[in-house]
Amino acid sequence: MATHTVHRRIVDNDTAGKTDARPYEPEKGTVRRITAGAIKRRKGRTIFPIVTAYDAPFGQFAEQAGIDVILVGDSVGNVVLGYDETTPVTIADMIHHASAVVRGTSRAHIMVDMPFGSYQVSDEDATRNAIRLVKDGGACSVKMEGGTYVADRIRAIYGAGIPVVGHIGVMPQTASLGPGYKMRKNRERLIADARAVEAAGAYAIVLEVIDHDVAREITETLTIPTIGIGSGPHCDSQVLVLHDVLGMYPDSPSFVKRYSDLGETATNALRAYAAEVKERMFPAT
Ligand code: KIV
Repeated sequence: MATHTVHRRIVDNDTAGKTDARPYEPEKGTVRRITAGAIKRRKGRTIFPIVTAYDAPFGQFAEQAGIDVILVGDSVGNVVLGYDETTPVTIADMIHHASAVVRGTSRAHIMVDMPFGSYQVSDEDATRNAIRLVKDGGACSVKMEGGTYVADRIRAIYGAGIPVVGHIGVMPQTASLGPGYKMRKNRERLIADARAVEAAGAYAIVLEVIDHDVAREITETLTIPTIGIGSGPHCDSQVLVLHDVLGMYPDSPSFVKRYSDLGETATNALRAYAAEVKERMFPAT
């Protein structure tokens, strides 16, 4: 299992071993995590998958599957903690789950959501909470929901040296204020928000359930990678929630593709175990 240090977060893989490398870079050959800079440079070159994870084993499974960017999403509230929404999730919850994923992985970039309440109050409060995610949770970067109106927050956190990912379109933390989880189609507003997020210093941006043509236009307009979820095939990256991919959550959105039925497999295995105990077949005599 890996430990995390701040240099793992900021050292750029592409400069490793060069003579002008920073003095605190680890020895050549040391396993380091994918950096935000390396992810940003994938724009227009490589389409890459992202999946969420919330604990060490599934972080490890994702990494073994070749997924090198993992999001510790505040979707942990819905799919792991049993809430109906993401708003109750706390910064302590995110630190707890992020540090588990960090321990289960060694090379993946660990992107961590800033939960509701951790960045709304002020630039200072947001920066302090982002620092906690990095220092206590091992985050390589942080993600926050919002467009133009969070630009100052992004600027403040980026200014403190922490890579930031934006998130526009459907924003689950505040979905109840607007049209819920319906596809977002307001082209001008979405493009303005995406531009504001990029201008504030974000190195990537999540586009959640956005009209596919608008998502394509944003992808073509921005110089940072777009990470799509329910926003069509034109984004630079795709992200899905782990429990949706593996069939461990009953209420998956319609755009999701299930690649397994682990929920059913687990229930069947537990049913078999329970039956064998009740029938005195396990343990064997
Ligand atoms: O919390 C989460 O899992 C997310 C993804 C849906 C992008 O923000």
